Amino acid sequence: MIGPAAIFRQLFEPVSSTYTYLIACPETREAALVDPVMPAWQRDLQVVNELGLNLVMTIDTHIHADHITSASMLRREVGSRIATPALDALSCTDVPMEDGVPLQVGGVRIDPMHTPGHTDNHFALVMNDRVFTGDALLIDGCGRTDFQNGDARKLYESVRGRLFGLPGETLVYPAHDYQGRCVSSIAQEKQRNPRLGAERTLEDFIELMENLNLPYPKFIDYAVPGNKACGQCPPDLPEHLRQYCQEMAESPQG
Ligand SMILES: [Fe+2]
Repeated sequence: MIGPAAIFRQLFEPVSSTYTYLIACPETREAALVDPVMPAWQRDLQVVNELGLNLVMTIDTHIHADHITSASMLRREVGSRIATPALDALSCTDVPMEDGVPLQVGGVRIDPMHTPGHTDNHFALVMNDRVFTGDALLIDGCGRTDFQNGDARKLYESVRGRLFGLPGETLVYPAHDYQGRCVSSIAQEKQRNPRLGAERTLEDFIELMENLNLPYPKFIDYAVPGNKACGQCPPDLPEHLRQYCQEMAESPQG
């Protein structure tokens, strides 16, 4: 248990509505960023520096389709190591994440939990009293399952079979929220998540996910190859997508 002294910040990137999490050890001053986003890399480093921390690792929960990770940029700037799911077998990875093999950030232990369904190799990250659920479990929602080998059956099992097995008081910190909500709990999601909570059956869930009729993700064709390279912005981005790679104008902190 790292207790209340662990350093923690929730940061927000508005272009893709992504939450990036800063986790740090108060003793060694080592820090990690979970799901850092390209346009916010300077803001994120500024927060790290203001807190007197050293960024030693970035962790991507999965290969994102809606933004480009700043993992490579941060490695180039400060030498942080890049953790991604081992199953993705990315050649740019320094730390291949495996289920049951903890990551250590100074005295802070982070336990990767394989939670496929949104993508086949998606991971959640458990850190003491909280879980970073990536796009598997969102507040009152879940990630889509229609791309990147997504599978509603697997997502149901990941959420109800694994994440809902955590203690009810565990805090749920998702990778996205589109309505300004910051945090939930396992108990709350079990009780009232409209897609996966309460008595929702597997058959119900599969049918629901098959009939969402979501639009084709507008950035996926650039984001997925960019993220398979741990965060490379393509040179040929059309004008209307350039905000995904340009530095944030403001410095909002979620
Ligand atoms: Fe995603």
